[in-house]
Amino acid sequence: MTAIDEPDTRDLAFFDASRSADVVNARMGADISPRFREIMTILVEHLHAAVKEARLTSEEWMAGIEFLTRTGQMCSDWRQEFILLSDVLGVSMLVDALNHDRPAGSTENTVLGPFYVPGAPHFENGTNICLDGKGEPLIVRGRVTDNDGKPVAGATLDVWSTNDDGFYDVQQRDLQPENNLRGVFTTDHDGRYWFRTVKPRFYPIPDDGTVGKMLAALGRHPNRAAHLHFIVAAPGFDTVVTHIFTPDCRYLGEDAVFGVKTSLIADFQHVDDLAQAEAAGVANPFWTVEWNFVLASKDEVERKRAEKTS
Ligand code: BEZ
Ligand code: FE
Repeated sequence: MTAIDEPDTRDLAFFDASRSADVVNARMGADISPRFREIMTILVEHLHAAVKEARLTSEEWMAGIEFLTRTGQMCSDWRQEFILLSDVLGVSMLVDALNHDRPAGSTENTVLGPFYVPGAPHFENGTNICLDGKGEPLIVRGRVTDNDGKPVAGATLDVWSTNDDGFYDVQQRDLQPENNLRGVFTTDHDGRYWFRTVKPRFYPIPDDGTVGKMLAALGRHPNRAAHLHFIVAAPGFDTVVTHIFTPDCRYLGEDAVFGVKTSLIADFQHVDDLAQAEAAGVANPFWTVEWNFVLASKDEVERKRAEKTS
């Protein structure tokens, strides 16, 4: 036998269904990033285990590949169907939870979502960010403090929400004023902020693509529980990406992207009082919500991370 005819006797050289993941993982080069090796090893192990457990047919695997292909084809500068997929499978919330373990009492994170637009205008406290005049007026006010209850002055609150028809301004560029229901507010010396907007309502995540079809096939609806988005940031503190939810939304317990946490459900009060409405510069009746954000310092978060890994 010439060298070229000799069988390869290396262990794991040839495909073997019973050890398929090991065969694939054994091909990795010696000089690759250790973290990449770790992630890919785990991914291949779980992927092969899933195929085996489900006893996947060739037709089913092809259908999966076609689904992923169409998902990629949906993506553009304005549409990220893979993030939606991650959201509806609960992976976005899981990754966030694993990476934002803050001290008890700190405001919790939830999904960012695809409709955040950096660079929204900065406004004085009290500004009305509803530019299309639709919806029930809402006054949002509260404080930003640290974990000892001390006010955080100069914290920024980047706020955004849908209009009363359930669409973000960027989804309806021809119909809504630019920056409708968006703005950045800054806390005063006592950590206080306040602004005027409209009461949020539930709305469907974009469901005209592969993710919408998958949800329908799973017997799931695409609706997000009514919420306002916030990014709260201040120097020396861990930035919070979060929402507040209305307590009366019918989708609170079945949010399409698993974004609801009980600590983020706020108490929205209905007010019918002409004098109060006039004083606040809103139409009567209106809603109010008082919401305090508690920021964890970067040091606290670092300490927590170090405790977990030691
Ligand atoms: C949102 O709340 O804007 C959102 C979050 C996840 C997917 C789609 C929309
Ligand atoms: Fe949203």
